[in-house]
Amino acid sequence: MSRPDRLPVRDSLALMSGYHSPQLDVAVRLNTNESPVPPPDGWAKALRAAQAQIDWHRYPDRGAHELRAALAEHERVAPEQVFAANGSNEVLQCLLLAFGGPGRTALTFEPTYALHSHIARLAATEVVAGERLEDFSLDADYAADMVSEHRPAVTFLCSPNNPTGMVEPPDTVERLLAEVSALPGLLLMDEAYGQFDSHTAVDLVDESRSLAVARTYSKTWSMAAARLGYLIAPSWVVAELDKATLPYHLDAFKQIAGRLALAYGQQMRDRVASLVGERERIAAALDGLPVEQWASGANFILFRPCSGDGEGVWQGLVERSVLVRNCSSWPRLDGCLRVTVGTPSENDAFLSALSEVLT
Ligand SMILES: Cc1ncc(COP(=O)(O)O)c(C=O)c1O
Repeated sequence: MSRPDRLPVRDSLALMSGYHSPQLDVAVRLNTNESPVPPPDGWAKALRAAQAQIDWHRYPDRGAHELRAALAEHERVAPEQVFAANGSNEVLQCLLLAFGGPGRTALTFEPTYALHSHIARLAATEVVAGERLEDFSLDADYAADMVSEHRPAVTFLCSPNNPTGMVEPPDTVERLLAEVSALPGLLLMDEAYGQFDSHTAVDLVDESRSLAVARTYSKTWSMAAARLGYLIAPSWVVAELDKATLPYHLDAFKQIAGRLALAYGQQMRDRVASLVGERERIAAALDGLPVEQWASGANFILFRPCSGDGEGVWQGLVERSVLVRNCSSWPRLDGCLRVTVGTPSENDAFLSALSEVLT
């Protein structure tokens, strides 16, 4: 039997590699910015009880109304201003499917979360990559000029920014929002790590503004396994996203899991506070090692061994059963590694492995 001619993948995809974060079998996993601890026991117990009520032979509530209403109350917005999806990555995908596409542009400021440009390209949207300054901060005048020059349909800002950890000053956010609103275009604030910072762009969301804010259950809510994220945006944005998503995309179990979690807001804030304490402890310890680091407002720290050999240091850590994110070959991040804040004992294991590798 002869093999059929293989159908080539579409041109834009042929140039891309997938998104890969190695899943290695190590004792200490500090590479994907998850919470190091599970959600509260009370949540797990309530979830077990609630799942007994699921009609498994029926499709779930297509509009995820109860979940959206609970999120609206939590974020103090109207239920029509909430969209939910399978992780904030799917939120971003729906946004690009609805507002990006052929002939349209998405603007990013690099280095930032790689999935912004990746998902934009998947949605056949041209990507214009703006640059951050040498210290990875963003020059607001330059950013505003990029918006007016390229007239993007979607402009991405991430605060705190992954992988640098840096927080975008509110003035910059408002400046870009004004610029984007003059186009027309949308400003997408990615606040996957938003609870680690005291500012949030959610307060700026309003029916008259071209602003959408993406958040996730994967980090501060300790629910990465659930794959649940959401968007706070004007109702006219949410209505279009509802058209772009697949029917019944949020399963019944997940809808309940997300709704029940919101009753544990105080526990979430306590977790954030203790992670911030641990982050500062790691940062102080890194100050005593031959590395350069960037001040972080999130649950991770970007650092660069002074030797410049990020790859070798990453390998040395893996040999000691500690996995961090290897960013050393990413554009602008030569030699850099990113460590997620773990439990105190995981952080100790990381610090002692790192000082062994570096000395
Ligand atoms: C900045 C940023 N946005 C979005 C996501 C995706 O999160 P989710 O698990 O909700 O898809 C991540 C995950 O690491 C992230 O770092």
